[in-house]
Amino acid sequence: MRSLTRVAVCALALMTLGACKPLDDTMVLVFGRSMRDQRSFDPYENTRPAPVNSVPFSAGNYPIADGVVNIGQPEGIDIPPFTQNDLGVPGIGGPVIQAMTNPTNPTSAASLARGEELYQRFCIVCHGPDGVGANANIAQFHPVLPAYNLSGDLVSAYSDAYLYAMIRVGRGLMPEYGSRISHFDRWHVVNYVRQLQAQAGN
Ligand code: HEC
Repeated sequence: MRSLTRVAVCALALMTLGACKPLDDTMVLVFGRSMRDQRSFDPYENTRPAPVNSVPFSAGNYPIADGVVNIGQPEGIDIPPFTQNDLGVPGIGGPVIQAMTNPTNPTSAASLARGEELYQRFCIVCHGPDGVGANANIAQFHPVLPAYNLSGDLVSAYSDAYLYAMIRVGRGLMPEYGSRISHFDRWHVVNYVRQLQAQAGN
């Protein structure tokens, strides 16, 4: 009796120690399939790509004004193409950027709320909740960031269009967010950065 129990315990231990593989194989024998046969994605594996020209809901543009339909990437307005090479003079930007004007109302509560939401999603990790890089979570691992203070004098003097451009194409160590933050949303983030600057007394 005692040895029977021992055999049972050993068998159980073997099954659990050997993970689920033998159990799965038995399931395949009995039912023809097991939980190993499933369409799950490995971490970091790409899921099915979105159809060409589709605009994800989450990345969609916030409408420019109340009652305006959200049209994803805006149509009918001229959004000039440019790259990092057009960033030109820091704070002012090259000719393409200088020609852009902020189409949103910078003091609109809806714009600032949207800007805040996106700032918290995309920027806070490196630039901190108040725009001060030294207060960012990443600052201890990325010691250059405290030098880039979004709510300080320097960036307060930058033009709206230059800030828009930096969000869109990035610069130096700053990644581009143009693929994740769409046209009007970039302006909303600019407006929110302006609010952080005002709160910092700039
Ligand atoms: C992964 C970290 C990271 C994230 C996230 C990030 N930035 Fe940056 N940002 C940087 C770095 C690094 C620089 C310095 C760039 C350089 O080398 O010139 C910078 C510079 C800037 C500057 C120019 C500052 C200056 O003093 O010239 C602005 C404006 C800016 N970022 C805005 C933003 C905004 C708005 C967001 C969110 C959409 C954002 N950043 C997200 C890392 C980041």
